[in-house]
Amino acid sequence: MIKIAKHCEGLQPYKVSSVYRQIEKLGSNDILKLDFNETTIPPSPKVTEALLHFIKGEKLNWYPDPECFRLTEMLSEYTGADTGEILPTHGSDEALETIVKTFINHDDEIIVPVPTYDNLRIAMNVCGGRIVTCEYNKNDFSLDIAKVEGLIGKKTRLIYLVNPNNPLGTLLSREQILRLLEGYPEVMTIVDEAYYEFGGVTVVDLIKKYHNLVVARTFSKAFGIASMRVGYLVSDAANIRNFCRVKNLKTVTSLGQVAAVAALEDIDYMKRYVREVEKGKGYLVVALRDMKFHVSAQYGNFILIRYRDPEHFVSQLAREGIFVRNRSHMPLLNGYVRMTVGTPEQCKRVVKVIVDKGLNH
Ligand SMILES: Cc1ncc(COP(=O)(O)O)c(C=O)c1O
Repeated sequence: MIKIAKHCEGLQPYKVSSVYRQIEKLGSNDILKLDFNETTIPPSPKVTEALLHFIKGEKLNWYPDPECFRLTEMLSEYTGADTGEILPTHGSDEALETIVKTFINHDDEIIVPVPTYDNLRIAMNVCGGRIVTCEYNKNDFSLDIAKVEGLIGKKTRLIYLVNPNNPLGTLLSREQILRLLEGYPEVMTIVDEAYYEFGGVTVVDLIKKYHNLVVARTFSKAFGIASMRVGYLVSDAANIRNFCRVKNLKTVTSLGQVAAVAALEDIDYMKRYVREVEKGKGYLVVALRDMKFHVSAQYGNFILIRYRDPEHFVSQLAREGIFVRNRSHMPLLNGYVRMTVGTPEQCKRVVKVIVDKGLNH
């Protein structure tokens, strides 16, 4: 056996439970995949059309455009940032990894309010950095920025804020973020806006004023092209140039670029879907609360519901082709299941299955 590198020795393989085997076994087309906060309908038909057009063309043998020039131009229009302030990435996971690789030395720290999205752990471990966590408040899932400030020390290089937060659905105010940007200019604040389109609140405009802000976004959520793996960073142009020191510029595939451009060309489709989700959420929350579930539903295309035996809840729904996720292992979330919200019709199906299975207590 060839010895692995020293920095990998203490690391465990990242495990994620995949439902694809179960889905194949069910052999049904009637799957409601509500476990990863993807859209519950296909992306705009314009995306499919553009992809088919590309596949039928003659450029599959070419490397992707390393500059992603067309996508970057479209993103400039969408975000209001200049093209030099934008960096497309292979999903926002790569975006987060790139930030960590660019800023974290051995022993440096990132402050992460939890529970939250956990994917930058691997990059932190590889760089030998330390994750310092503070908890959101137990009663209302709000975040006390003073708690974050209390953790900032000499080794703090990064603060990671997910806004709206996954899985809590909470939204930090602009003032809370500004307090960190203004108070700690030597610390880079990452604002992960993966669910921006479902919350409508952004700080992307602040990158013009604060060099210590980087915003990460994705096409995997509201735009419905998670399979294509496209995300992007928006930050001061000097930061973007630094990110390009560590990022492999060939990672955003041609198909990903084509799909993302087509998705941006049909913003109305995305907006219509966001409205459907809002309606679905309204229906779902009322129906579940009527059944006496404790439901936490704020921003984002997902909700949290508490159940006495979350594993049972998840497996019962899975038998009917509905996949949701037990979040019980996360801080503050013992007994909670996270469920992506789809269209009103799909939400009705979920409620019916909960009733039919006798899961409504
Ligand atoms: C907060 C947050 N950031 C980033 C991601 C990853 O997105 P991507 O598919 O762009 O890598 C997710 C996915 O669930 C997420 O919830």
